[in-house]
Amino acid sequence: MADKENKKKLMWGGRFTENQDTVLSKINSSIDFDKRLYKQDLNASVAHCEMLMQQKIITAQDGKKILIGLSQILDEIENSNFKFSNDLEDIHTHIESRLSEIIGDTAGRLHTARSRNDQVATDLRLWIRQSIDDIQILIKEILKSLIKQAENNIETIMPGFTHLQTAQPITFAHHLLAYFEMFNRDISRFQNCKDILNESPLGSGAIAGTAFNIDRNYTSRKLGFERPMMNSIDGVSSRDFAVEFISCCSINSMHLSRLSEEIVIWMSEPFSFIKLSDSFSTGSSMLPQKRNPDAAELVRAKSGRIIGDLNTLLIMLKGLPLAYSKDLQEDKEAVFDAYDTLKICLIAMKGMIDNISANKEKMLHYAKGGFSTATDLADWLVINLNLPFRDAHETTGRIIRLAEKSNRTLGEISLEELIKINPKIDESIKDVLSVENSVYSKCSFGGASPKKIKEALVLAKERIE
Ligand code: ARG
Repeated sequence: MADKENKKKLMWGGRFTENQDTVLSKINSSIDFDKRLYKQDLNASVAHCEMLMQQKIITAQDGKKILIGLSQILDEIENSNFKFSNDLEDIHTHIESRLSEIIGDTAGRLHTARSRNDQVATDLRLWIRQSIDDIQILIKEILKSLIKQAENNIETIMPGFTHLQTAQPITFAHHLLAYFEMFNRDISRFQNCKDILNESPLGSGAIAGTAFNIDRNYTSRKLGFERPMMNSIDGVSSRDFAVEFISCCSINSMHLSRLSEEIVIWMSEPFSFIKLSDSFSTGSSMLPQKRNPDAAELVRAKSGRIIGDLNTLLIMLKGLPLAYSKDLQEDKEAVFDAYDTLKICLIAMKGMIDNISANKEKMLHYAKGGFSTATDLADWLVINLNLPFRDAHETTGRIIRLAEKSNRTLGEISLEELIKINPKIDESIKDVLSVENSVYSKCSFGGASPKKIKEALVLAKERIE
């Protein structure tokens, strides 16, 4: 039933005689979220208007009036003097409607050779492009923090895990620089997304282009796009750029989540590898001894939400025939939510990294457990006794069994006992059993040795400049 109160003038009201039902207004309205596109929408309108003037599609006089009106609207929105209302559906209709209040009927000329379909596709591309810049800056902050922590922990020996079981000794710096690589790739991934999306849909019209003699290169250039999109149908209906953006957000947040998970583990009492300063720890209302890593847990949880946004968009798109359908209006909430969520996660993660202090004794203690230098022992057998690695592995296994049975570390097995297992073993084997020796020996490119980590740190700094 149409609501009698609902007497608004619709932008496309010409062929309609009845008022819109309130529930339709409600479900149709996107202004609550797409108001975030106001700046992009105004910029695109300015470019479009200038192009219409240049092409003599509208007069210079009308164009100037429109431009003045648009700049007033920008002012009003930025100073919170702009009235948003659900009755006016979206940001495009809001701006057009306000423009007509300010400059009268001339406002109607701005929409010549344009549709909300190419308008919204343009706005969203511009918005995401800017957001990628913001996110890249935040990721870079994390890279800097990782470098700083790594510099403080070049020689901090910790157990490296596989299957969350002690595998080999590494250093905390080495571990942190693994995340440096992941986050650095995330920056490139966002850059790639930005490069691909940087084409202008403006001038695609509703679907077919336009009969007006528009200049799509002008608007494209003016808005900082690389080129106009080739196909007007693609221009208004494709959202792979938004999918790709949220996909980049998802991958980045997945990396944040993995690091969060490690922070949670490292902070747990049995590990106690790190401490987070008070400013990044929370207490428990009941258990006075607790220092909880809430921020890490939330970053871990929020990655699920961002991946959910990716799903939302993919599922929304996968059954959509070309070209525009109103389903596409729903893309924005997923994009905005992914961005907002990722942003707070990135900021929180930087805070956590800055506030970590490594418990070097604990890390070293656990690095010594779990027969972490077993591979060094096997390598010694290969290098010094010329055993094939598989045989060396087998011999090492027997030594471990002996140590395990008598509850000793590898270093605590006597030379006599070792000789019983293989008579060619000599005392120089003892040198390779310390975790320090193990770590310092890993001089392969990308390896754990502090010498290599120092080199990696120099390069890391160069790479983020
Ligand atoms: N608010 C709409 C959106 O976000 C704008 C495009 C409307 N186009 C249309 N044909 N109804 O997609």
